[in-house]
Amino acid sequence: MQMLYHLFVSAIFTCVVTANSFSEHDVELTEREGSSSRSVSFGDEATHIQTRRPERCKVFPGDATWPSQEEWNRLNTSLGGVLLNPLPPAAVCYRTSPVFDTAKCDFLLANASRTTFYLDDPVTILTQWPQGNTCLASRNPTGNCTQGGFPVYVVNATSVKHVQAAVNFARNTNVRLIIKNTGHESVGRSAGAGSLSIWTHYLKGFELLADYKQPGGNYTGTAARVGAGLQVYEAFGHALRSNVTLTAASCLTVGSYGGWITGGGHSPLSSLYGLGVDQVLSLQVVTANGRAVTADPQTNRDLFFALRGGGGSTYGVVTSAIVKAHPPINLTIASFTFTLGATTSTTPGPDPTITDKGAFWKGFNAVFAFGIPTVDAGGYLWTNGIRGSNTSFTMQARVQMPGKTPTQAAEFVEPLLKTLNDLGIPVAIDTPTTQVYSAQTGGTGGGPGNGRFASRLFPRAAYEDPTLFAAAMAAVRAAVEDGYTFHGLNMAPTLQAAGFPGPTGVNPVWRDAVMHADVFDTVNMANITSRQFAAAKARLDRHMDALRAATPGGGAYINEADLSEPNWQSAFFGRNYEDLVKVKQARDPKQVFWAPTTPGSEGWAVQGQSEIPTQNGRLCRA
Ligand SMILES: Cc1cc2nc3c(=O)[nH]c(=O)nc-3n(C[C@H](O)[C@H](O)[C@H](O)COP(=O)(O)OP(=O)(O)OC[C@H]3O[C@@H](n4cnc5c(N)ncnc54)[C@H](O)[C@@H]3O)c2cc1C
Ligand SMILES: *[C@@H]1O[C@H](CO)[C@@H](O)[C@H](O)[C@H]1NC(C)=O
Ligand SMILES: *[C@@H]1O[C@H](CO)[C@@H](O)[C@H](O)[C@H]1NC(C)=O
Ligand SMILES: *[C@@H]1O[C@H](CO)[C@@H](O)[C@H](O)[C@H]1NC(C)=O
Ligand SMILES: *[C@@H]1O[C@H](CO)[C@@H](O)[C@H](O)[C@H]1NC(C)=O
Ligand SMILES: *[C@@H]1O[C@H](CO)[C@@H](O)[C@H](O)[C@H]1NC(C)=O
Ligand SMILES: *[C@@H]1O[C@H](CO)[C@@H](O)[C@H](O)[C@H]1NC(C)=O
Ligand SMILES: *[C@@H]1O[C@H](CO)[C@@H](O)[C@H](O)[C@H]1NC(C)=O
Ligand SMILES: *[C@@H]1O[C@H](CO)[C@@H](O)[C@H](O)[C@H]1NC(C)=O
Ligand SMILES: *[C@@H]1O[C@H](CO)[C@@H](O)[C@H](O)[C@H]1NC(C)=O
Repeated sequence: MQMLYHLFVSAIFTCVVTANSFSEHDVELTEREGSSSRSVSFGDEATHIQTRRPERCKVFPGDATWPSQEEWNRLNTSLGGVLLNPLPPAAVCYRTSPVFDTAKCDFLLANASRTTFYLDDPVTILTQWPQGNTCLASRNPTGNCTQGGFPVYVVNATSVKHVQAAVNFARNTNVRLIIKNTGHESVGRSAGAGSLSIWTHYLKGFELLADYKQPGGNYTGTAARVGAGLQVYEAFGHALRSNVTLTAASCLTVGSYGGWITGGGHSPLSSLYGLGVDQVLSLQVVTANGRAVTADPQTNRDLFFALRGGGGSTYGVVTSAIVKAHPPINLTIASFTFTLGATTSTTPGPDPTITDKGAFWKGFNAVFAFGIPTVDAGGYLWTNGIRGSNTSFTMQARVQMPGKTPTQAAEFVEPLLKTLNDLGIPVAIDTPTTQVYSAQTGGTGGGPGNGRFASRLFPRAAYEDPTLFAAAMAAVRAAVEDGYTFHGLNMAPTLQAAGFPGPTGVNPVWRDAVMHADVFDTVNMANITSRQFAAAKARLDRHMDALRAATPGGGAYINEADLSEPNWQSAFFGRNYEDLVKVKQARDPKQVFWAPTTPGSEGWAVQGQSEIPTQNGRLCRA
């Protein structure tokens, strides 16, 4: 009933509020508010700082120029009280902390990562080491808990006005500014010592736009306006109720419209509909001068280009987006696993174990070779190559076929199963599973980890070249035998799949890629010494160099990558790099926004770092 009413109404009005309206979200900072207080005045008016020589460093707590308590209080007043100064969540585990609480610490250690606790925490980042490991949860920690690379203040933004005031304040006072949405980022781009953080998590608006025409663009049809803070599971909930599909990351707690769209954004629907950047039709952005602007193919085209793949935390703060809403679709998945072990299970099934090492690695390669037919059929091949022990290895595979029935998907994987069976790997799958893509539920979970990984985008030309493919597979095998987990995602987000979205800042290598793969290290970065880190880095670099050599013309996905990626400018952004730096320089001449390995970030560096590149230090010009 609700749905019918809803569709009926959408046919009449262009825009229907289904839930989480934008009325509070859309409140902006007025000219009067801007000029009432120097510290939140707009960039085009605040002359007191513009006339000064550029500072060598961002101000840091303890500096004479660090804003006074009165100034922070005034900011809080301008913000209507949403300014927080949060302690690290694990402070409750430290006896010397004023918030020491054994029960709360036990909750962190036992249960917090099974709830939304960390996702709703203003400072948590899900990979901890970039913060400096200054306050790890532990039952009897040694040392004291310090703020480290966590921000000093956080604006819990629920409106455009909050974002504008925060940007103006940071620019006018020279305080380091960071943006955190969910904190899924893994190299520290949503952390920063001595910073003010804009926390976009509660920008959760949603509106279905039944009949949207993109200004100056090619798209007409159903779309949705989405708040920057929506997580995948929340976007899916809205999509399901609206009988549409919004493509999103596989992990249901990732932020759909913060880091995912600004860095690229892959999904199981990428071979059908392109990347996250290709979903975006228009953006609402707060720029470095504090102004709220629209970016689309007609207005602020430079921003529209750069914000679709040219990196988060660089050109402005996205507060909301208008994205394509596709028709409902099912995701059908055929899953199987096979293992090389000490004993054989001869019964055919979805997860046999074999003892023939040669057959195992031939089967392993056959699964990757099946990536090409999979992406050409609009699918997404998910794989994990894992070392169990020195003599036991496992290949996990999920052939994900959007829009196919279970029968069609079973027929589709038949040739791969035959190849494996002929090798003596008795894989036999049960009926593939199917469900409405947007019906995936479960947005809880996720706690901070402390791992490290590198990644590679594999161009089709290399993948289809028998010599290069053999070299790539040899490199993959060497890495897996050395204990790394190789996580492959075959997809083909071509320009055609993307619907010819016009110029986008995303690495052009994506358009001809057929696989993005992560190589996960087992190293625990929690208590690692500089020396251990250097050794771990050298070992991973060796494997990555072999993969790079076998994938000429490839690159790496900025959103899932190694901070120490060599030549990151071209690896992450390809031939778009120089254009992205131009947008950065034009839009953020005072360098209000900064995050490592984003366009133009070379001019600054975090001070006092050992070999481990964390965000726990003062940010100064390099
Ligand atoms: C478990 C897991 C699964 C993942 N699965 C996928 C996947 O399936 N597909 C995929 O493509 N990626 C995936 N990723 C990577 C993910 O896309 C990135 O981590 C992404 O940066 C997360 O964005 P966020 O907004 O959730 O996180 P954050 O860490 O909060 O933000 C990431 C970056 O974007 C910036 N940023 C955030 N919000 C804004 C904003 N509103 N305006 C401007 N800049 C902003 C931040 O400053 C930071 O630099 C996964 C990551 C993890 C940890
Ligand atoms: C901001 O103001 C609110 C409401 O007055 C208060 O609860 C909060 O503690 C203040 N924040 C800071 C950082 O002082
Ligand atoms: C963790 O959750 C379990 C199951 O709900 C509960 O029994 C236990 O008391 C919880 N422990 C802590 C420390 O919160
Ligand atoms: C890291 O070291 C600290 C202090 O020695 C200890 O409390 C903590 O348990 C260690 N963490 C890990 C993950 O090893
Ligand atoms: C930890 O904090 C306590 C109390 O605040 C202080 O006395 C002590 O010197 C600190 N220890 C270290 C190692 O900084
Ligand atoms: C942030 O704001 C949201 C929305 O108003 C609120 O629900 C949440 O409790 C706030 N979080 C913190 C840590 O203050
Ligand atoms: C949902 O949308 C599809 C196609 O877009 C349509 O065929 C179907 O009837 C719709 N379902 C409902 C319940 O409106
Ligand atoms: C696995 O092999 C490595 C190096 O080849 C060796 O150091 C290690 O002891 C072996 N582990 C086991 C469990 O056999
Ligand atoms: C889609 O999945 C649902 C179960 O979630 C199922 O009932 C329906 O039949 C599927 N549709 C198709 C076309 O496979
Ligand atoms: C519209 O589509 C054409 C190709 O069909 C493409 O070249 C052009 O860049 C697109 N324009 C925009 C603004 O997306």
